[in-house]
Amino acid sequence: MTTGICVVGAGFWATSMHLPAFAQLEDAEVRCVVAASEESARRTAERFGIPRWSTDLAQAIAAPDIDLVDIVAPPFLHSEAVLLAAAAGKDAICIKPLGRSVGEAQGMLDAVEQAGTRLFYAENVPFIPAVQEAKRLVDAGHIGRVFRVRASEGIGKPHSDWFFDPALSGGGAVLDMAVHSIEFCRYFADSPVASVYAETGTFVWGDRTPAEDTAVLTMRFASGAIGQCDDSWSLTGAMDSRFEIIGTEGRILIDNLYRQPLQVVSAMGSALAPQGWSFPLPIPGLVADGHLDMLAHFLTARREGTPSRSEGAVGLEVLRVVDAALGSARTGVRVEVNAAGKHNQNHHEGAIA
Ligand SMILES: NC(=O)c1ccc[n+]([C@@H]2O[C@H](COP(=O)([O-])OP(=O)(O)OC[C@H]3O[C@@H](n4cnc5c(N)ncnc54)[C@H](O)[C@@H]3O)[C@@H](O)[C@H]2O)c1
Repeated sequence: MTTGICVVGAGFWATSMHLPAFAQLEDAEVRCVVAASEESARRTAERFGIPRWSTDLAQAIAAPDIDLVDIVAPPFLHSEAVLLAAAAGKDAICIKPLGRSVGEAQGMLDAVEQAGTRLFYAENVPFIPAVQEAKRLVDAGHIGRVFRVRASEGIGKPHSDWFFDPALSGGGAVLDMAVHSIEFCRYFADSPVASVYAETGTFVWGDRTPAEDTAVLTMRFASGAIGQCDDSWSLTGAMDSRFEIIGTEGRILIDNLYRQPLQVVSAMGSALAPQGWSFPLPIPGLVADGHLDMLAHFLTARREGTPSRSEGAVGLEVLRVVDAALGSARTGVRVEVNAAGKHNQNHHEGAIA
């Protein structure tokens, strides 16, 4: 069964990850792409061989040949697009962060529940092949009982202006970057976050944004395990992506930058070695960062009516931790995570088959 897809967004992430991934998935057919400008929508449609393009979100989503809406646009559009999809009876995939706030995300889940449609939360980290292998090892007991987890996701600079405007993006490094690390820690702690303490600061981009560009979070899970997240927009020069799981009988380090045998950082920039990290023997990020496996998993879950490890509720849980972390950064005290409510469930089902 082919799934007719409308991709909302034609920027960096849609064109470098989701559209190339759908092009590789046999049961996926992107039938429309939506962007803010006609020029960008048309160019993207031509580049990926998509039959329709639009700047009219509601009309594009409502088209009868669209089964699934993949939202890869900035956060200010996430809720609107999910609500339109639900109203049209269409399932949706929403890229991280699920919304700009807990309230916005809760509204999205309520709309989906009322409509009887599905919402998947596109957080790629649990789908990274190395993370999946680590999950299999942990679940098989290879490192004993997990009592500490830590994650680091950092970049030097957000690539679009909207990231710097909290009204559009929803926030800074906690909402944009720590969401990845929080979900990694939740995946391996396999327990709800009970409380969080956060230190944040704006060290590099203070002339562009009132939001934090640097965040360090310490979490305590209900199980007693400790999680640490170190996330930023302040790693000048090149990104970082590292994860660690520590158990009573061993530990696992996943350095997602060291995923390839040859790695180069160049500040000069050339055709052979562009600026920042480059990997002259490439395993595409599409594969190494789990995006292909994530989207394939969503299509399968939708087709077969099976639960996903990354339902929309996961995105809401992550936002509850974000909210508590921002409260802690403001007040200087540890904040309990408000985990009450029907969506306070982990959807962990071990390694993804
Ligand atoms: N690892 C990851 O999962 C990852 C990495 C990067 C970005 N992202 C997320 O992807 C999303 C998009 O980020 P990006 O980097 O592609 O941004 P971008 O600035 O490169 O592109 C934004 C796109 O949204 C479109 N858009 C803006 N307003 C619109 C409107 N009113 N109607 C229709 N389209 C509109 C623009 O035309 C553009 O194509 C964000 O939520 C971001 O956090 C996720």
